[in-house]
Amino acid sequence: MARTHKQSASSASSNRSFVDPPAQAADNAWVRDWRALEEEALGDPQGYWARRAEELEWSAPWHTVLDDTEAPFYRWFVGARTNIVSSAVDRHLGTARKNKLALIWVGEDTSQVRTFSYFALGREVERMANILKAMGVGKGDVVTIYLPRIPEVVFTMLACAKIGAIHSVVFAGYSSEALTARIDDSESTVVVTADGSWVNGRVFPLKDIIDEAVRFSPTVHNVIVVRNTGSEVTMDPIRDHWYHELCKMPVAKGRCETLQLDAEDPLFILYTSGSTGQPKAVLHSHGGYMVGTYVTLHDCFDIHDEDRWWCTSDPGWITGHSYLVYGPLLCGATAFMYEGNPTYPYPDRWWDLIERYGITSFYTAPTAIRTLMRFGEAWVRRHDLSSLRLLGSVGEPLNPEAWAWFHQVVGQERCPIIDTWWQTETGMFQITTVPSMPMKPGAAGRPVFGQEAAVVDEDGNEVPDGVEGNLVLRHPWPSMMRTLYRDPQRYVSTYWEKYPGLYHTGDSARRDADGWFWIIGRTDDIIKVSGHRLGTAEVESALVSHPSVVEAAAVGLPHEVKGHAVHVSVVLLPGTEPTRRLEAELREHVAATLSPIAKPDSFDFPESLPKTRSGKILRRVLRARALGQDEGDLTTLDAD
Ligand code: PRX
Repeated sequence: MARTHKQSASSASSNRSFVDPPAQAADNAWVRDWRALEEEALGDPQGYWARRAEELEWSAPWHTVLDDTEAPFYRWFVGARTNIVSSAVDRHLGTARKNKLALIWVGEDTSQVRTFSYFALGREVERMANILKAMGVGKGDVVTIYLPRIPEVVFTMLACAKIGAIHSVVFAGYSSEALTARIDDSESTVVVTADGSWVNGRVFPLKDIIDEAVRFSPTVHNVIVVRNTGSEVTMDPIRDHWYHELCKMPVAKGRCETLQLDAEDPLFILYTSGSTGQPKAVLHSHGGYMVGTYVTLHDCFDIHDEDRWWCTSDPGWITGHSYLVYGPLLCGATAFMYEGNPTYPYPDRWWDLIERYGITSFYTAPTAIRTLMRFGEAWVRRHDLSSLRLLGSVGEPLNPEAWAWFHQVVGQERCPIIDTWWQTETGMFQITTVPSMPMKPGAAGRPVFGQEAAVVDEDGNEVPDGVEGNLVLRHPWPSMMRTLYRDPQRYVSTYWEKYPGLYHTGDSARRDADGWFWIIGRTDDIIKVSGHRLGTAEVESALVSHPSVVEAAAVGLPHEVKGHAVHVSVVLLPGTEPTRRLEAELREHVAATLSPIAKPDSFDFPESLPKTRSGKILRRVLRARALGQDEGDLTTLDAD
């Protein structure tokens, strides 16, 4: 049994038991004396980050660790030359890791297995890089990647990085309209996609969606198509190219040097939802991002050479970027990637793969844990999960019930649970534990080494322990976003204006008397649905593009499995009947114009939407109505 004990039991704000880490996990961890390291790193954050950065490859050293003269446009490792690929791939080729497996991939049809040593991965990346170069892609150009969870997504991301191009991965579940907006905004000239992806035994037609998305694109000249499902697609004779045919061409062959770049040169943009309808392109750069993702994965998930690491995220999200693709390779680890979903064809697919491939460290999302929990323990128990030594969670709060199930049933009380709080913008974990730290079910943990977090009121004053407030971060960190691509003003106003000198996370949280942070949720118009980040404005603009809709408002309602469900209030054109059929049509319309993950779960059809006098929609009233609660004091409408 896990050892549990109460600490500071007298403090009302620390009312949850600590769970001690299993001695085995703590004793062998890279970080054993976490309190000493915490103190040391906070005493001199820049010194700490500089020391850790030395573990990676730089072709010219930095003269300044952190330049904050133009804050909040912070610059890290100033003057240094590097390329993340030099550390993620190239440096391993001169060591025994050259023949180590970098990637094990299993298809939804699990008889499909592809493995790549670091050497083989290096060759694949060179091939894709040569092809992109031949298409005229160079430093600073944006390549859009719309691929399922297959190895080519890794090759393409690394190939872009290798030649100094900027990748923009769009989750292969977004609709053509969402894709067009992202392609146009980034002015990509090349798009890399596949014929289709496998989703629960059926083909999702990626190429058709791309055709629709780039039909009127003024910038896209080339579309590279990976053969994945073998389904029939239409190929434009000039614009479209099969990847396997390109690979046979002389231009694909031969070495491709990794371009040495300024540490601050951009690595990728990743679109994420904000509080307006227009998604934000978060920009990350080579040097700092590689240091942040490497150090956090290495220390928090205690990566050792013999580990097999599985992060279940899709590469279309930041978790996939940082901890499926870059982090593991920077650590020289063996990463596992699975194409399919956890419940298809049966809800033991993940447990089966853990057993078959000897996964040691497994990182997933609360919504998946809650889903699998509902199918019962028997599905887990029929597999031998004794290879597991660490479990992790990300994306939304891991509620204590799901925590307990993950810990007891999956981890057999042998595996620490590393709950990692972070964001697309932060690039790396910010609040978490390391395996030697005691855990609190439901709390994310403590700020990472070198970071301090605080909970403040509307005026920026710290609130007492145990009181809910706005979560802020005090110190810049290497893998922080550098800006919003082509929108520096929005970067400043969204993250740095509310509390000068502090990073405004947009989350509410409380810190307990022991210094553990409990994340409560977003304070803005972003909702997390099954761990996916959605802007209410995005859902609303999808709805109002339907001919029967005059106006719409979306809110998140608590949901047992998904964390939040999307509830929408829709004002219909006069004379339109709010039927079940119309609801189904609106659901499909949102799926088609935005993404199936944004489909509304429930509807109401008021005659008008409650608003402040200045015209702002009163979401709290809509939420209260949907939950059957008191709508509150409507006389304060203007103050809302
Ligand atoms: O609200 C927090 C929640 O997810 C938001 C960031 O979403 P995104 O940029 O999509 O990145 C998700 C993966 C890093 C945060 O503002 N969130 C993320 N991790 C946690 C979390 N909430 C509670 N606990 C977490 N571990």
